[in-house]
Amino acid sequence: MCGIIGYVGNKSCLPFLLEGLDALEYRGYDSAGVSLAYGDGIDTVKSKGKLAVLREKLEELSPPISFCGIGHTRWATHGEPSDINSHPHVTPALTLVHNGIIENHASIARELVERGVSFISDTDTERAAYLIDLCYSECKDPVEAIFKATKMLSGSFAFGVIFKDRPECIYAVRRDSPLIVGQSENGCFLASDVPAILPHTNICCRLDEGVVAELRGDGISFFSAPYTRIEQKFEEIKWSPEQAQKGGYAHFMIKEIHEEPMALRRTLEHINRDGLPYFEGAERLLREARSIKMVACGTAMHACLIGKHMIEKLARIPVSVEIASEFRYGEQIFDGGSLTLLLSQSGETADTVAALRRAKELGIPTLAIVNVFGSTLAREADEVIYTLAGPEISVASTKAYSLQCAILSALAISLSLIRGRTDEESAKALFGSLLSDLPRLVDEVLAKEKEIVRVTDKIYSAEHLFYIGRGIDYYLALEASLKLKEISYIHSEAYPSGELKHGTISLVSDGTPIVALITDSSLVEKSLLAVHEVISRGAKVTVICTDRISREHELPECEKIILPDAPEHLLPVVTATAIQLLAYFTATKKGLDVDKPRNLAKSVTVE
Ligand code: M6R
Repeated sequence: MCGIIGYVGNKSCLPFLLEGLDALEYRGYDSAGVSLAYGDGIDTVKSKGKLAVLREKLEELSPPISFCGIGHTRWATHGEPSDINSHPHVTPALTLVHNGIIENHASIARELVERGVSFISDTDTERAAYLIDLCYSECKDPVEAIFKATKMLSGSFAFGVIFKDRPECIYAVRRDSPLIVGQSENGCFLASDVPAILPHTNICCRLDEGVVAELRGDGISFFSAPYTRIEQKFEEIKWSPEQAQKGGYAHFMIKEIHEEPMALRRTLEHINRDGLPYFEGAERLLREARSIKMVACGTAMHACLIGKHMIEKLARIPVSVEIASEFRYGEQIFDGGSLTLLLSQSGETADTVAALRRAKELGIPTLAIVNVFGSTLAREADEVIYTLAGPEISVASTKAYSLQCAILSALAISLSLIRGRTDEESAKALFGSLLSDLPRLVDEVLAKEKEIVRVTDKIYSAEHLFYIGRGIDYYLALEASLKLKEISYIHSEAYPSGELKHGTISLVSDGTPIVALITDSSLVEKSLLAVHEVISRGAKVTVICTDRISREHELPECEKIILPDAPEHLLPVVTATAIQLLAYFTATKKGLDVDKPRNLAKSVTVE
């Protein structure tokens, strides 16, 4: 996710651009830039780092007043964060900002190179900019050039473009990435999202896919292919600027949980090669792995446990999971053929980075799964796989965890094919259900909000609570418990159901709240044994299980959250959404600051 802003009108554009970028920084913050148009050319200033770095640079340069400009705040997906890879990207004829991913950038680059173009950045965006430039050099019409070029692009994009010989106009178009335009008495605005322009206008239009908008100081014209002038519907936005930044949600956490279906589609499509998961660059490491050590912290470490379960089950490769802060100082015994797999949303967690360096010192191949492009882990690991969750702002990790579980499931399928544990047809079927069924199933869980809110009545006033489960449900219980305690401050413990009787059950008495996760159909009877045991000691139980389990087994009379049925390798992600919602609604019922829980930072970059 990146943020786009543009303004053309009767006022100096730079303050509007910077204010808009400020409001959009939640969409990406690894670099930022602006282009300011003048009658005799365009000035572009950009820099790696947060917006503050760009502000300083602009203060030093003090560019002359411009009335038409575009700006961008970046969240890298192609090419590490750097001054050169930052947007806007400049070609001889234009300057351009982009949000999205151009999937066929490599083939476009090849064609452009054949026609004499040379690139200076590593980005997919620069390729798209040159393609539009080339089309413009042929037709000399901005709208036609954009239609022509975007027809050749696959992937997602929202573009803002200024042509050097039309410095009084901004052109915009989008596919699968958001873009809005708005109009005020002082001019016209372009943005990825409403908050960027809300202080100036609340009359906005969400650009339809494929429609080209031409923004001038005195109004906006819309065109659909092949070059027909059309009308677009404007609406009145009733949100406050703060509400708008969260897309109308009360907190980033709930917004991010709702982004899961879209982020899953994006991440899984990215690794889809002809119906099979393909991990570019990492294939050799995967082929050579005889055993895997997974290392991470917190929620990412819980995702490793899900990965362990999947990889051992599908590929029969032994996997051990270690907490990074333990790994870095522990005795490490590796056999030949070991692979260290490091997981992190931020890619900057100090303990995980130290673990990576330790593994490298020991000469063990390293593969990182991270969400932040160009982060330390991504740069230093031998190979990297990205989850494309977009920025995660809320301290409590939700969409990143779900994507980690999904990508590990795809990795397990790939490993099982490599190891000859499955044939291509079955692997395609497994991956196909991840691609097509998983986002839909997560949507179904999101629709169960009322059911989940009802359960919070039973737990929000508790001081202590247990999550219990067996097998993969225990691993999920660990994450459910962490999520709950981190944002609701309820002391929560996760326990393997079968282990309760060895000590912990002595803590269960009248009214002890217990949430039992029962999604593993092979262990239902065993899980129910534990549930009956705690009920007979007075526990107040809530069961989270699949629809099928609820129909085929005699469950006790208690609160239930019924999940949609799903194939085994999808269930962790389906369950994850439910446990995240349960934690979220419990914390909000207590009136807590969900996005910034006490004593916690989003990224733990110190030991
Ligand atoms: O950025 P990372 O994934 O490396 O962060 C690891 C943990 O600090 C993180 O998952 C933490 O546990 C979250 N706050 C949990 O919601």
